[in-house]
Amino acid sequence: KFDLNYWRKRRSFLDPDNPIMNRRRLSQACRDRLVRTPTIIAMAGLPARGKTYISRKLARYLQWIGIKTKGKNSPPIPTFIDVNTYHYYFDKNTDHENHLRDEYRFFNVGEYRRAVKSHADKNFFDPDNAEAMAVLNQCAQKALEDACNYLADEGEVAIFDATNITRERRRAIHDFCTQTYCFRVFFVESICDSSEIIEANIKEVKLKSPDYKDVAQEEAVADFLLRIEQYEKRYQPIDDKTDEKLFSFIKIFNCGERFLVHKIGGHIQSRVVYFLMNIHVTPRTIYLTRHGESELNVQQRIGGDPPLSINGKAYADALANYVAHENIPDLIVWTSQMQRTIQSAAKINAPKEQWKALNEINAGICEGLTYVEIATRYPEEFSARDQAKYHYRYPGGESYQDLVARLEPVIMELERAENVLVVCHQAVARCILAYFLNKDAGDLPYTKVPLHTVIKLTPMAYGCLMECIPLGTEAVNTHREKPKNCRPDRTVSEALNEFLEEPIDTNKVRTKSEIVYKSGGTKIETIDIDGNRVSDYAT
Ligand code: ATP
Ligand code: F6P
Repeated sequence: KFDLNYWRKRRSFLDPDNPIMNRRRLSQACRDRLVRTPTIIAMAGLPARGKTYISRKLARYLQWIGIKTKGKNSPPIPTFIDVNTYHYYFDKNTDHENHLRDEYRFFNVGEYRRAVKSHADKNFFDPDNAEAMAVLNQCAQKALEDACNYLADEGEVAIFDATNITRERRRAIHDFCTQTYCFRVFFVESICDSSEIIEANIKEVKLKSPDYKDVAQEEAVADFLLRIEQYEKRYQPIDDKTDEKLFSFIKIFNCGERFLVHKIGGHIQSRVVYFLMNIHVTPRTIYLTRHGESELNVQQRIGGDPPLSINGKAYADALANYVAHENIPDLIVWTSQMQRTIQSAAKINAPKEQWKALNEINAGICEGLTYVEIATRYPEEFSARDQAKYHYRYPGGESYQDLVARLEPVIMELERAENVLVVCHQAVARCILAYFLNKDAGDLPYTKVPLHTVIKLTPMAYGCLMECIPLGTEAVNTHREKPKNCRPDRTVSEALNEFLEEPIDTNKVRTKSEIVYKSGGTKIETIDIDGNRVSDYAT
């Protein structure tokens, strides 16, 4: 039983003398309430309704806009739960796996359950199987407890990904989060009655689950459908005719065909609703490229509004050629309002739109300078940027953080759109890639986005397939690596020496090989054009 008394029994959890109470807890959370109340987003719905899909996408979005969701310091997931004593055991050997799970940035009860029972068939989900129900409830309790601890410590949003199909369970979640803590709770229920969608979902994601390792496809689909039936016996959709009318929630019907939004509380919930109302599952591809090489790129100068160089013009031709050969249905092309992107897209035969929001990062007083000139003229600025590149704002200009805020409408429109080619700039492309590849603020400003390369992003069930296609035209390299020595006391000559030791290759010719990065979230497999695995590569 998922009952509130369970929490009361757990003295250690509520005991004010317990050291964990020293962390930001009740009183602090209540004080914070006036400003930014931590929010638990609790999923609800039968299996294979896209709850994990939505959780992942939402966590990625929230993280990208700078709202703290579950991070790398979150507690590891227990590998064994003793049903009688409520003791949790952690196995050191699973640290690696836990690290990978942390990347998911949400609290997925399925993961907790698999830690206790790695393979489970339909019988495990039978409501009459008391022992199994006890395990499932405890896993949910532990996940919710971890989610609340995370919010009490540092987080702003924790996503609790479980079926939460009964009113009793949702009431317990609500009361625990709002009374034991002062958190807000927002339920996201996914309802789907299309058997085609459900069967497609099972085939797309469930057959890859460890539950069905070595099980034939048909047998696995049949077993999963029976698992859903077990849940259906107890399922009570959120009902605003009951005391659930006091809850804040959104109901999503058939992948976004219709929505019901009830009692939105606060700006985080309204952003979540806005996001959920914009996403879709229609297959599509997003093409991303920087403009062709510009005249200032050739001189290693940043910013400005220069025209394309001779190499850049060759890329504009190659890009138009590539797009024509790809034969992309209903493609739209977005450029910035700078002439280098407009010229790069000019020969593409597709409708075009210009976005001011896609303009390159504004380097303020450093516009038009080379990195060497910045280091000599403004050594303190150069050093400050190396210490915290994401947050550093050029005097009179922007930071990467500013850029992410400026790009949010573009991301939202990208979510709504189908096939799009975005022709943009180095810093802008890094921010867009960080969204799709779940990169954190530390890695984002150092992501390599070479000139004269098309990056093809195909959203998949739980991740994004990324293919890099260099179009074979020459271009300079504008990427500056993260310096090894970023210390604040670093001298200008130390900074310059390190920088000049690895001079920027001004005449690099790209090879024609195509590389495919297959992203399933955190682990990335690199495959060459012939399908041979090159190496494992993690972002
Ligand atoms: P379980 O309870 O077994 O964990 P789940 O509800 O978490 O299942 P997912 O694993 O997220 O289901 O299912 C992923 C699939 O759901 C993907 O194929 C995705 O395209 C699809 N999907 C995404 N959003 C929705 C939605 N709103 N309704 C139905 N299916 C969706
Ligand atoms: O060098 C090309 C460029 O697009 C500049 O206009 C811009 O300032 C720079 O890249 C952004 O890269 P970084 O943040 O690494 O300096």
